[in-house]
Amino acid sequence: MPDRQPEHPDARHSLRQLIRQRRKSLSQDEQQAAAEQLVVGFKEHPGILAARRIALYLANDGELNPLPAIHWLWGQQKEVYLPVLHPFTPGHLLFQRYTATSPMIRNRFGIPEPELDMSQVVPHSMLDIICTPLVAFDATGNRLGMGGGYYDRTLASWHEHRLGPLPLGLAHDCQQVDSVPQEQWDVPLPQILTPARLWHFSQSHPA
Ligand SMILES: Nc1ncnc2c1ncn2[C@@H]1O[C@H](COP(=O)(O)OP(=O)(O)OP(=O)(O)O)[C@@H](O)[C@H]1O
Ligand SMILES: [Mg+2]
Repeated sequence: MPDRQPEHPDARHSLRQLIRQRRKSLSQDEQQAAAEQLVVGFKEHPGILAARRIALYLANDGELNPLPAIHWLWGQQKEVYLPVLHPFTPGHLLFQRYTATSPMIRNRFGIPEPELDMSQVVPHSMLDIICTPLVAFDATGNRLGMGGGYYDRTLASWHEHRLGPLPLGLAHDCQQVDSVPQEQWDVPLPQILTPARLWHFSQSHPA
């Protein structure tokens, strides 16, 4: 899909600013409690329990921190993968195995990612679940991210054909809003896990 002009640029921009500020103002204690609650949510999530390969992310900008959950997954002998910016195809992600000894670098957004090692990269189709960070979500599973379109591209085939790994959004409860203005390329999420609860959404396939 070629890049197109957004229909709601101002509304999305201000919503992004508002909710980014909201999650960044959580205290360290609140962040820690949320991260521990996420482990509880993982322990009760049938998809996580059944999964072998799970993509996560390292928290940035006040995002819900999956690191305690990653440690728990390692203890369960699950394989954990992190997104790596694609070296040649702008806007796309690779998913690379992450272990306690993975060499890490900072990408051009300043976010730590595994140093690229193609022998540790898997095709998206081999992942069971892709946990996505997000900025804001609403009561129908619409998702607003940081504005790069990375996860929209990653999840496009799931959106169109329900093919590939299950997307699972991770967020603080305070990131829920009444309505996220959607663009035609946005991929709504079927499930979002917050410290308080698991949200299930049923969306229709695109025409
Ligand atoms: N499947 C796609 N193919 C091509 N371009 C896309 C696709 N999905 C999104 N884009 C482009 O990415 C840009 C950013 O999209 P958007 O504002 O929805 O990002 P986001 O969902 O907030 O970010 P992210 O997915 O990285 O969390 C837009 O210019 C859009 O055209
Ligand atoms: Mg989007």
